[in-house]
Amino acid sequence: MNNNRFYGLVAVVAGLLIGGASIFAQDNNVTYVPTAENLEARQEFQDSKFGIFLHWGLYSMLAQGEWYMTNRNIDWQEYEKLASGFYPSRFDAAEWVAAIKASGAKYICFTSRHHEGFSMFDTQYSDFNIVDATPFGRDVIKELAEECHRQGIKLHFYYSHLDWRRDDYPQGRTGQGTGRAEGHGDWDSYYTFMNNQLTELLTNYGQIGAIWFDGFWDQPADFDWQIDEQYALIHRLQPACLIGNNHHSTPLPGEDIQIFERDQPGENTAGLSGQDISQLPLETCQTMNGMWGYKIEDQNYKSTKELIHYLVNTAGKNANLLLNIGPQPNGELPAAAVKRLKEIGDWMAVYGETIYGTRGGDIAPHDWGVSTRKGNRLFIHILNLDDDGLYLPLKAKVTDAKVFVDGTKVSYKQEQDGGILLKFAKVPDEIDYVIELTLKQ
Ligand code: GLC
Repeated sequence: MNNNRFYGLVAVVAGLLIGGASIFAQDNNVTYVPTAENLEARQEFQDSKFGIFLHWGLYSMLAQGEWYMTNRNIDWQEYEKLASGFYPSRFDAAEWVAAIKASGAKYICFTSRHHEGFSMFDTQYSDFNIVDATPFGRDVIKELAEECHRQGIKLHFYYSHLDWRRDDYPQGRTGQGTGRAEGHGDWDSYYTFMNNQLTELLTNYGQIGAIWFDGFWDQPADFDWQIDEQYALIHRLQPACLIGNNHHSTPLPGEDIQIFERDQPGENTAGLSGQDISQLPLETCQTMNGMWGYKIEDQNYKSTKELIHYLVNTAGKNANLLLNIGPQPNGELPAAAVKRLKEIGDWMAVYGETIYGTRGGDIAPHDWGVSTRKGNRLFIHILNLDDDGLYLPLKAKVTDAKVFVDGTKVSYKQEQDGGILLKFAKVPDEIDYVIELTLKQ
């Protein structure tokens, strides 16, 4: 036996002896079997259809989005100084949650620690956190969690796998100019750190709906993130907590939802979403303006109509929409965002029935719009149509057709081939003209 093989064998045997637990944990996860409560949480997640993403960290002070630290190669020691000036005097968790609830969203996904490495919660495992390093000294996640539980909205945590500041995070594709020493990285230390923080997040803040990972793409494809064990830890702490990972590929064992970034499933306009669509619940995240973190000059907000169309289109593609807002450094949500939340909420108050609890409908998305389905009710969402009639390639037999909002009958003719021709009283001009079809059971 040559030396290499000998040492290889010793390593394997030693690994089996000392690392037994982790090896079993990995085996467990390869055949990951979600618990009954996890499966139930998946359904509930899918039914909820709409969530709000919040990107908030020290980067809000620079007001140039959450990538500024690496984009401008800011030295981590300079960057750290931001913390001692962070005092979001207008932060009010109750106001945030109320404004978000008013939109009809059913969950909030909050950045607990983004790539800059700053923890927005009280953590024992790093001083670079909102309680210890800022004059503000308040655990905003605690306040947010309490309000979410009080106002009845689910809380999810975004958690960055990568870090631009820590020395123990192995150098990745990004964060190369933030002043760390050449060759830095101590994976074991960093991995333990992450798992310790995840344990805090999943034990100190009540029930958490999901952990939303991001940053996988920072390391080469063959990098071993040891996610099996990390996922097992999460599911052990909270079996119903859903795991999603924004790695831009098909889901890995142990994940409970599939994430798409800036594109709906099946689309790939932003270049991040070419992956196959899995059987897991789907979620698409999208910005309200152009950036995730607060960017002072980006007032390019999508109109309420565009946002509603995005939500409806996403539901028609069988996915949830996670719509992003970047809170300001003073702790407020931008007024432009709050206005849109309210307007989306007014629409959802009337049309939510055709969105919540539905799945993508029998009719594939077309230029005119999409369909959603709940039981034997098929909702036809007409978003762009310059005609007072519409042909639907539908196999099922229709027993009734009406305008959803007021119950007015819609005349229809079922064709020989099973398709159906709808005839409206006018050319639709609503944000979403919803026709409800009753299908024969
Ligand atoms: C990207 C970005 C990150 C952002 C995320 C949201 O992965 O790196 O800044 O948080 O998308 O989808």
